[in-house]
Amino acid sequence: MKTLDLCTLVIFGAGGDLAQRKLIPGLFHLDLAGRLPEGMVILSCGRKDWDRQTWVEEVRPLLAAKYPPEMLAKGFERFSARLHYHCIPRDEGNAYQTLGDRLENDPALPRNIVFYMSVRPGEFTAIIDKLGNLGLLKEARGWRRVVIEKPFGYDLLSAQTLQRALYRHLNEPQIFRIDHYLGKGTVQNVMVFRFANLLLEPLWNRHHIDHVQITHSETLGIEGRAGYYEGSGALRDMIQSHLLQLLALVAMEAPVSLNAEHLRDEKVKVLKAIRPIPQNAVHAHAFRGQYTSGTVAGQSVPGYLEEPGIAADSTTETYAALKLFIDNWRWAGVPFYLSTGKRLTEGASAICIRFKNPPQDLLRGTRNTPSRPNWIMLGIQPNDCLKMEIQVKVPGLDLATRTISLDASYHRDGDDSYDAYEGLLLDVMQGDHSLFLRIDEVEWAWRVVDPILKVWAMERDFINTYQAGSRGPRGTYRLFDSDDQFWRYSLNLDGADLLAY
Ligand code: BG6
Repeated sequence: MKTLDLCTLVIFGAGGDLAQRKLIPGLFHLDLAGRLPEGMVILSCGRKDWDRQTWVEEVRPLLAAKYPPEMLAKGFERFSARLHYHCIPRDEGNAYQTLGDRLENDPALPRNIVFYMSVRPGEFTAIIDKLGNLGLLKEARGWRRVVIEKPFGYDLLSAQTLQRALYRHLNEPQIFRIDHYLGKGTVQNVMVFRFANLLLEPLWNRHHIDHVQITHSETLGIEGRAGYYEGSGALRDMIQSHLLQLLALVAMEAPVSLNAEHLRDEKVKVLKAIRPIPQNAVHAHAFRGQYTSGTVAGQSVPGYLEEPGIAADSTTETYAALKLFIDNWRWAGVPFYLSTGKRLTEGASAICIRFKNPPQDLLRGTRNTPSRPNWIMLGIQPNDCLKMEIQVKVPGLDLATRTISLDASYHRDGDDSYDAYEGLLLDVMQGDHSLFLRIDEVEWAWRVVDPILKVWAMERDFINTYQAGSRGPRGTYRLFDSDDQFWRYSLNLDGADLLAY
C-alpha cells in the first residue's frame, strides 16, 4: 500500500461538475477504504459565500447520490471532519490573500499542499500566478504540487504558452497533468497484458497484426458543457488526450522499468513516430461528424445545433475518426484506427486488434463460410474483459470451422473497484508521476492532431451529420485501407455486428 505524507488538498472549482461528481465522492471512497491519513484535509474553494458547516451539508447529498446509506452512516462523520471551505467570490477581493494566510497559519491545515485546478482551462494561468505571487508554490515549508486538468492547451502553441506560464512558478516535478484514462484499471491492464505475458510479444508487430482499432462511444451528449465543447470538439476532447494515450500503451516498447520517466520515455517515442498528416491528406486520414436529433435509449434527444449555447452554424465535431501510421520497425504499415463520438447507440470503449490471415488458406475447399481472422479485444468499459477469437473445427464428420471466443473476464466477486480519479489522487499525494503526462507527451500529441484541426477550422461550410442513437456518420469506411476492414462494434460473436458501415 502506498504511504502518504500528511497534506492539504485544495480544490479550485469546488462547485463544478468534476469536483462534485468525481473528486469529492472519490475522496470519500478512499477515506472509507482507510487510504487517507488521519489529519489530511480537503479545502474546497468555490464562489458561494458558505461557511464550513454549510459546505458539509452540501457534500452530504453529493455522496448520497452515489453511495448507499450504510456507507454514509459508516464514513460521513469521519470524512466531514476533513472538509473545509474557502470562498473566492467572482470579484475576488482579498480572497487569495486570506487563503494564503489560512494555508500558512492554520494549525489544522498540513503544510504539504496539493492545488487541484478543477476549473475552466482559461483560468489555470491566472490562479497559478496568484498562488505563485503569494509565495504559496515555494517548497520551503513542505512540498507543493499542482494538478492540471485537461485540456492542456487547445493546440501545440497554446500548450507551450501554458507550459511557460507554469514554469514561471513551478518546477516539472511539482506539475501533475492529469489524463483520467491512465487511472482506469482496465487501461493499466493493457500494460500488464502485454508485459506480464510472454505469449503475446512475438505476435505484437507488423508481421502478424493487420490493424488496430481504438474506439470510444458515448450515449451522452455534451451535458451542459457547450462553452467548453464548442471550443474543443471530439478530436481535442477525446483523441488528442485519452485515445492517443491508449495508442501509446498498445504500441510502445517494453520500458526499462515502471518508473515514471522510463514509462513516459517509451510513450513519447511512439507519439514521435506517428507519421505526420500533411494538410492535403487530412481527408484521407480523418473524418468528422455532428449529431442531429434522434432517439437514444428510448428517449428523444435534440441535435447538437439545438443544444443550449451552441451556435446555429457550428461545425464543431461530436464524432471524429482517424487513421494513423506509426513509422517504426515494429509497426510500419499497420493502420491504427481511432474513433470517438457522442450520442451514439451505446457507450463503450475498447481496443481491438485484428491479426492477419494465415499465409495459406488450407481449409478454403471445406468451408462454406468466409475465413475469419483472429482478434484480440480488450474491453475498457462498461465491462472490462479480454477476449480472443480463434477458429476451431465444428464437431462432426466434415472439416468445417467455426469461430469461438475465449473470454478471459478477470473480475472476481469481491475484487476492489475504484474510480480512475481515486488512484490518481493517491498518486499525486504520493508524488508518483507515472500515470501523469510529461510535457513532451502533450506536445507530441498536439503535433499529431494540429494539421487536422487547422483544416477543419477552415472548412466551416459543411460537416457530415449522424442521427443521435446511430453508429455514427456514414462514410467512415473510406478511412479503411482494405475492403475486409470494418469497425468492430461488438466484442461478441454476433455476425450482425461485423458489418462495415
Ligand atoms: C472527458 C471528456 O475527458 O472524458 C468527456 O471531456 C468525456 O467529454 C469523458 O465524456 C469520457 O470519460 P469516461 O471516463 O466517461 O469514459
